Amino acid sequence: MDRKRVFSGIQPTGDFHVGSFVGALMNWVALQEGYETIYCVVDLHAMTVPYQAADLRAGRHESARMLLAVGVDPERSLLYYQSEVPQHVELSWILGTLAGLGQLERMTQFKEKSDRARQNLGIFAYPVLQAADILVHKAHAVPVGEDQAQHLELTRDLAQRFNTRFGDEFPLPETITPKIGARIMSLTDPTSKMSKSDPSDRSRILIKDSPDQIAKKVKAAVTDAGTGVDYDWETKPGISNLLELFSVLANRPIPELVSEYADSGYGVFKAAAAEAIADGLAPIREAYEGLDDAEVAEVMARGAATARDRAETAMKTVREKVGIV
Ligand code: TYM
Repeated sequence: MDRKRVFSGIQPTGDFHVGSFVGALMNWVALQEGYETIYCVVDLHAMTVPYQAADLRAGRHESARMLLAVGVDPERSLLYYQSEVPQHVELSWILGTLAGLGQLERMTQFKEKSDRARQNLGIFAYPVLQAADILVHKAHAVPVGEDQAQHLELTRDLAQRFNTRFGDEFPLPETITPKIGARIMSLTDPTSKMSKSDPSDRSRILIKDSPDQIAKKVKAAVTDAGTGVDYDWETKPGISNLLELFSVLANRPIPELVSEYADSGYGVFKAAAAEAIADGLAPIREAYEGLDDAEVAEVMARGAATARDRAETAMKTVREKVGIV
């Protein structure tokens, strides 16, 4: 029996935060056991917001390096830069002809960036390219954070529409989100998600942060009224957010942490949480430092070559089905 295929992508910011790590990357690594895994640094997606070419160039490379440090294993996973596999863009055009304007306009991430000045065709078409990323590999499952659920819904709609119109081609991919940590919140505002676009550095913990930086950020994190440590998103969103990070990075169940720290006060709890987060991230920081740039480049070149072959095979059938052969 063939193993099921997993695909996911991440934008090339390089300095990934713990939200992405806990929400998605830990699953990327875990799924290498038992699945065929394909992972992509989505550099074309990053071009939909204002950026500098030099930053994109550096960010792609740092992102690839960080993915290897996190534990994406090139012996078991296909890893490559999206822009080096042009079939993604070709399929995206075809899927775009099936995507309704109404549905694209309802995409939350599009609406969030929807001030007129920043709108462009790329940002509107963003989720269609994302669907093409997934479908060009006929992936069965996609590990992501909760914020990507709507894009995955669109992906299934487009796959279904293609299958109905041209004949069965694409599996409808399921979304894989973690039970804890699918939506890690900002440290400065626990009602909005931790995000790379938040102007405040203190709102997020980066995988690369030193233990000292992590301690400072956690100490300054916005917490809630009262003094008790409790897991309750209604009344204690700040503490609940830290509990999720603590739990996942220390690999300890939340109820155990709650009973240990219930009455210890926020200061003691935060210090313990910061230490656990820093300890959990330490091996990744070390691995990142130890990687060789030429090796990273070589892994990415090999990955792209394999991905192009596979995507080309898939596109041959697609082109035939839609009438362009
Ligand atoms: P990106 O680069 O914004 O985020 C990468 C992954 O991290 C998850 N994530 C979070 N999870 C929990 N809490 C948070 N605060 C948090 N912030 C980010 C995201 O859900 C994501 O899984 N559109 C995608 C990139 C993409 C893609 C794809 C993903 C392009 N093509 C195909 C899957 C399949 C994005 O912007 O991810």
